[in-house]
Amino acid sequence: MTKHDPLRFIDLMALHKLNVLHLHLTDDQGWRLEIRRYPRLTEVGAWRAESQIGWNGAMDGRPHGGYYTQDDIREIVAYAARRHITVVPEIDVPGHTQAAIAAHPELGNLGVPLEVRTTCGIGENVLNVEESTIAFLQNVLDEVIELFPSPYVCVGGDECRKDQWKASQAAQRRIRELGLNDEEELQSWFVRRLGDHLATRGRRLVGWDEILEGGLAPGAVVASWRGDLGAVAAARRGHDIVNCANTSVYLDYRQGPGEDEPVPFGTVLALEDVYAFEPVPAELRGRPDAARVLGAQCGVWTELIDSNRQVDYMAFPRLAAFAETVWSPADRDLPDFRARLSAHLGRLDAIGVEYRRASGPLPWQTRPGVPGRPEDPAAWQATIDSWTSNLRDLR
Ligand code: ACM
Repeated sequence: MTKHDPLRFIDLMALHKLNVLHLHLTDDQGWRLEIRRYPRLTEVGAWRAESQIGWNGAMDGRPHGGYYTQDDIREIVAYAARRHITVVPEIDVPGHTQAAIAAHPELGNLGVPLEVRTTCGIGENVLNVEESTIAFLQNVLDEVIELFPSPYVCVGGDECRKDQWKASQAAQRRIRELGLNDEEELQSWFVRRLGDHLATRGRRLVGWDEILEGGLAPGAVVASWRGDLGAVAAARRGHDIVNCANTSVYLDYRQGPGEDEPVPFGTVLALEDVYAFEPVPAELRGRPDAARVLGAQCGVWTELIDSNRQVDYMAFPRLAAFAETVWSPADRDLPDFRARLSAHLGRLDAIGVEYRRASGPLPWQTRPGVPGRPEDPAAWQATIDSWTSNLRDLR
């Protein structure tokens, strides 16, 4: 997305009374933020040789890349602030870091050069746990803090595979030196180091719910994405949470069961499913822990959304339903919403938002032949069950 695109999206957010924009700025497939001290992060890490067409589809053979300069970010942050929107940055570590390792092989576990990742999915290349890597990230975060006045800074923490730490003598030595039990606790130690650093600068760490798995410092905010489970576990342990449940508000998931949904991914989350979302999980409602819910957040992950027109299609009108869930009490009135939405769609038309029609994609909104990864309901339930068993012990 060029700078223009988040600026336009900020206007659309303001129109829907949304007040926080969380920007996921780094991943295996690209590092998208200029860091003055480490120019290779964008000279090398912002560019990949090619991309996949759809989910694990053919390689397209076309280089892709780009990044936001620090001036771009200052402009985005100021533009958002004038619309009462706080921009929360995310530097995702220690997993999802292949682009950073491509730029700085000394951050990795293998000591060999890697390419910026060109394929989808969760990679095994993660950061090492050396003191020099922590110092590198602290320096990165110091520049991030300079750019983003947000009280919250997200350090990711999601989907960090532990294979390389298990195989690495240096990581195993670190576990012993620190008196830790396992790789989960090593990840917690890593996150805690960054949280402590942010705290010395007066900022609060946010991380995805995996950061709960090996214990978490007080004061950290949990962005709960795997259903409601992480939210309940985190609130019971005294952490503030943001409810990002992928069972309700992951807007990269498909909007209907039809095969013509453009690059169908995940389970079906129709407009009505988003409207039925309640930011305070049922298990917390009416209890003091409910106050731990700072808010809710919907995700527009873009690995399968390769244009801004497609962002419009995935985000709207579900974003309007989401806005109501966060700004109104639980007893919402779906027929009333539908009636008001039909007037609202006229506004979206007038300002050029290419939302999804209730009938499905218009012919030019389809992506014939581009493979997705739609979840079937039984497989989806099995996934949720496996998270449940992981997270139940934490409650
Ligand atoms: C996530 O969806 N990996 C946070």
